[in-house]
Amino acid sequence: MANSFATSLSRATEKRGMLQSSSTMTEASFPRKRPSLVRKVLFRTCRHVSIQLKTGAEHINACDHGPERGIILLAIISDIHANLPALEVVLEAVEASGSEAVVHAGDVVGYNSFPNEVIGLLKSRRIRSIRGNHDRAVVSGNTSWFNPYAARAVEWTREQLTETSLEYLRSLPPHLVMETGEATIRIVHGSPRDEDEYVFPQQASPLLLDEGECDVLVMGHTHVPFVLRTARGLVVNAGSVGQPRDGDPRAAWVLLDPEEPWAEVQRVTYDVTSVYDEVLRVGLPEMLADRLLVGR
Ligand SMILES: [Fe+2]
Repeated sequence: MANSFATSLSRATEKRGMLQSSSTMTEASFPRKRPSLVRKVLFRTCRHVSIQLKTGAEHINACDHGPERGIILLAIISDIHANLPALEVVLEAVEASGSEAVVHAGDVVGYNSFPNEVIGLLKSRRIRSIRGNHDRAVVSGNTSWFNPYAARAVEWTREQLTETSLEYLRSLPPHLVMETGEATIRIVHGSPRDEDEYVFPQQASPLLLDEGECDVLVMGHTHVPFVLRTARGLVVNAGSVGQPRDGDPRAAWVLLDPEEPWAEVQRVTYDVTSVYDEVLRVGLPEMLADRLLVGR
């Protein structure tokens, strides 16, 4: 068991090195101290850390391998927005990274044309998600604070969703907390203060970690990815799988070592034009298709 675990970690670390060389960060790169691989392997294999998700009083194992085996790397995704081709490519990259669990920071649906398919894939992969503002709007039908394009996409999505998919969206919690034994990770859509607050890179600060009572804070909502490394811990925004807005149309996700802690934004290319065509084909606003091409 220990040997296979060490081999798995070695492979994951090797692949992470490959990913680092091709990744992009929107914040300045921070110098980071990495322990030697040998020390890290011994440390990991002796401790058998388990990660649990907490949703209120509920405790859920995030790892299918059982409590005797810990998580080495965690993949954070956010704002899929019903973009199935982007999600499929991101999950391929996640698998290649050696990540053993994936968590989604909200906005499963809205904007793009594959809501039922995306929900089906998240369920089949047992990927935990919280709710985003678009998920809430689709459940409630309240689009009073959405722009006309987003509101139209919410209406279209409500017309397409199966009852099973709608029930899935209703079941999403507002936030998740993960405990590793050494680190507390809070996953929110907006901010610890307000699930609808936008926290862009220039607003990120260590105070968010105090407000979130955590060592690693993971956010979504802005569609602008970043990693802020502080003495107190990490503040991370996973950007968007399905509709990036930082000028880079490639799908974004974040690779996280929750106990280091260490995180890095990853980007992957997907078939944007196929999603563009599909948005137009189903009658969603042209503006939603156009912005996919430029990542804005
Ligand atoms: Fe979003």
